[in-house]
Amino acid sequence: MRKVLIIQARTNSSRLPNKVLLELTDGTCVIQHMYNRAKRCKNIDDIIIATTSNPEDTKLYEYCVKNKIKCYRGSENNVLERYYMTALISNADIIIRCTGDCPLIDPEQIDNFITESQNKEYYGLNYIGNSNIEGFPDGFDMQLFSFKLLEQAYNEAIEPFDKEHVSPYITRVLLNDNYEKYNIPIDSKNYDSIDLNSLHLSIDTPGDYRLVKNIFENIYNKNNNFTYLDVLDYLNTNPTILKLQENKNENLGAQLYLEAKKIIPGGTQLLSKRPEMFLPDQWPSYYQKANGIEITTLDGVKMKDFCYMAVGASILGYADPDVNNAVQQSVSRGNISTLNCPSEVELTKLLLELHPWAEMARYTRASGEACSMAVRIGRASSGKDKIAFCGYHGWHDWYLSTNHNDDSTLDNHLIKGLSPSGVPKALKNTAFPFNYNRFEELLKITDNHDIGCIIMEPQRSEPPVDNFLQKIRNLCDEKGIILILDEVSAAFRLNTGGLHLKLGIEPDLAVFGKSLGNGYASAAVIGRRKYMESAQGSFISSTFFTEDIGFTSAIAMIKKHRELNVGKHIEEIGTYFQTELKKIADKVDIKLSISGLPCFSAFNFEYENGNAIKTLYVQKMLERNILAKNAFYPSYSHKKEDVEFYLKNIEDVFKELKDLIDNNHTSANIESQLKGPLAHTGFQRLA
Ligand SMILES: Cc1ncc(COP(=O)(O)O)c(C=O)c1O
Repeated sequence: MRKVLIIQARTNSSRLPNKVLLELTDGTCVIQHMYNRAKRCKNIDDIIIATTSNPEDTKLYEYCVKNKIKCYRGSENNVLERYYMTALISNADIIIRCTGDCPLIDPEQIDNFITESQNKEYYGLNYIGNSNIEGFPDGFDMQLFSFKLLEQAYNEAIEPFDKEHVSPYITRVLLNDNYEKYNIPIDSKNYDSIDLNSLHLSIDTPGDYRLVKNIFENIYNKNNNFTYLDVLDYLNTNPTILKLQENKNENLGAQLYLEAKKIIPGGTQLLSKRPEMFLPDQWPSYYQKANGIEITTLDGVKMKDFCYMAVGASILGYADPDVNNAVQQSVSRGNISTLNCPSEVELTKLLLELHPWAEMARYTRASGEACSMAVRIGRASSGKDKIAFCGYHGWHDWYLSTNHNDDSTLDNHLIKGLSPSGVPKALKNTAFPFNYNRFEELLKITDNHDIGCIIMEPQRSEPPVDNFLQKIRNLCDEKGIILILDEVSAAFRLNTGGLHLKLGIEPDLAVFGKSLGNGYASAAVIGRRKYMESAQGSFISSTFFTEDIGFTSAIAMIKKHRELNVGKHIEEIGTYFQTELKKIADKVDIKLSISGLPCFSAFNFEYENGNAIKTLYVQKMLERNILAKNAFYPSYSHKKEDVEFYLKNIEDVFKELKDLIDNNHTSANIESQLKGPLAHTGFQRLA
C-alpha cells in the first residue's frame, strides 16, 4: 500500500496573496516548513504539492523545483481533478490530504492516522478525518482516503461545487453524510485559557499569519520537532498571543465595502446595514460568523452585538440551533419542489391558533413585500385606492408615493430623506401619513378622502395614549375601513405573536416578518376571511413564496419562543437596560433621552452636536469590540450578564464623553476625536 501525502496549495489567495511563500522563521517559508514537518512522518512513502497551472502559481512551482519538492500542476477550478491526477501519477493507494495553509500540521498525528486506518474495522470505507466538533482545532486538518474512493468521486461528481473541492462528494455522497463518525477525536487535556473549538490556526488572513509566525518563532526555535500539544500548551500559557490574529489595522470589511460601493448601488441591500449609518470608514461592515450575540468580523475579531441584532430579525440570537436544525432538515429533504410543502399548512394553523380573530394566512419572503400584499388585499377588499398610514412599511411604490404629495411627508416615519424617484406620479395623493397618537390627524384624512384601509404599527416608541388604538378601531368600524396592523417589527418582541394581543386591539389584517423566521426569509399576512378571500380575486403569486425554509424556520421559531417565554425575557432584559442606562446617565451627568419599548430602546445625546457625540460613542464602543449604536434590540441570547457587561462599558465611555463635553470642547473638538466622517442620520445618496 503506497501512502502519499498530497498538499494542495496555491498563491493567489485574495485575503493573503502569496501566503504559502511567506517566511515563518529561520528564513524558511510556510510551504517549506510544512514539507519539512511532513518529511518526519515514518509511515509515508511520498509527498507531493498539488498546485494550479495558473501563471500566478509558477513561482510556487519554481520554488518546489529549486528545492527538490515534487509538484504537480493541474486545474485551478476543478480541484477534485487536480487531486485525482496527482494521486494517479504518484501511484497512491492511500492519500493523506492536507492544505498548504496549515504549517503546524503534526507528523506524529499523520502517522497515527495511518495506523488507525489500518487498525479499525469501521475504517473499512477507507476514510478518516479529524475536524469534527470534538476534533482537532482548525489548522491541524487532515483527511485520509483510499485511491478507490477518490477515483469514484472523480468519476461520478457532476456538480460544480463537488469539483471545486476535493472531499465534499466523498463525505456527502459516498459516505452518506455520515463522515463525522469517521473522524478521530483529539487526544488532549482540557485547557483553561483557550477554547479548542474556536481556535483557527490555518493561515487565511494577515492576522492568522502573524499568529502562526509567532508560534513558530517561539516553539520551533526551541524544538523543531514540536507536536500539536506543544502548540496548544504554548497558546494556553500565553492566550494573549491570540490577539495577534485580530486584523484591526487591515479592516478587511471596510476595504471590501469600498469595492462593493463601486459595483452595488447603495453599497448594500439594506439602508440600516450601511456602514455610514454607524461609523463611516471604520465600521467592520461584513462578518464571517455569527452565533448567539457574537459576530466575527472579516478580520477575525469577535464582537458582541448590542445594537440591532440583524435589524430585529434575530429575536432568538444568531444561528439559533433549533431553528438551524429545522432549516437544515428542510435543506436535506429539498427546500422546494413541483408539489407544495405541508409546513405551509402547519404554520398557518399555528399563526391562527395564536391569533384567534384571524381565519386565513398568506406568505411572502420579505417583510415590506408582505406589507405590500396586505395593502393590495385592503385595496381589493374595499374597492378603494386611498390609504392612511402611520410608521415605516418598506420600499414599495404604494408607500413611497406619499412623497409625491410633499417630499417630506415620510420624514416623521422612521427614515428621513426618502425620494419617490421612479415611483409613478399617478400614485400621488393615494397614501396619506398621520403621526402616532394624533387621532385628529387621521380624522382629517378620513374626512377629506375616501380611505379604504389604514396600515400602522401597533406601537413603536410612544405608548398609545387617550384610547388612540381603540378610537381607530371604532373609526374603522363606523366607516367600513379595513385596519391593517404592521407587526413586522413589533411582533414576538414582548409576547408570542402580534403586539396587538398585548395591547388589546383586534385588526382586520396583520403583517409579520423580520423575527418570524429568526433570520430566514419568512413573512406573513393573516386576516379575517372576508378580506383575505380578496387575495384570490387579485393576482398574488410568486415561486419563492412557496419554499419550505420560510415555513419551517417560522414554525421552529414560534415553538421555541412560546416554550421559553422569550417575550418575557426580552421585556425583563430591555427594562433592566433602560433603568440602568438612566441611572448611569444621571450619575455621569450626561444629557440623554431614552425612548421606546424595552424591546426597542433608543437613546439620544441631547446636545447641539448630538450626532458627533453619537458617532464618537460608536467609535469608542467599537474599540472595545462592541457593536453599538444609540439603539438596542435585545434578543433571547442577551443574558443579564451580557447587559451588565455593556452597561459597564457604557459608563466608562460616557465618562470619557462627558470629559470632552465639559472641558468646553466645541463640536469641532468632539469631531477631531473621530477617525472618520460623521454617521449619516437618514437616507443619503452615497458618494
Ligand atoms: C414596521 C415595519 N414594516 C415593514 C418593514 C420592512 O421590512 P423589510 O425591510 O424586511 O422589507 C420594516 C423594516 O424595518 C418595519 O419596521
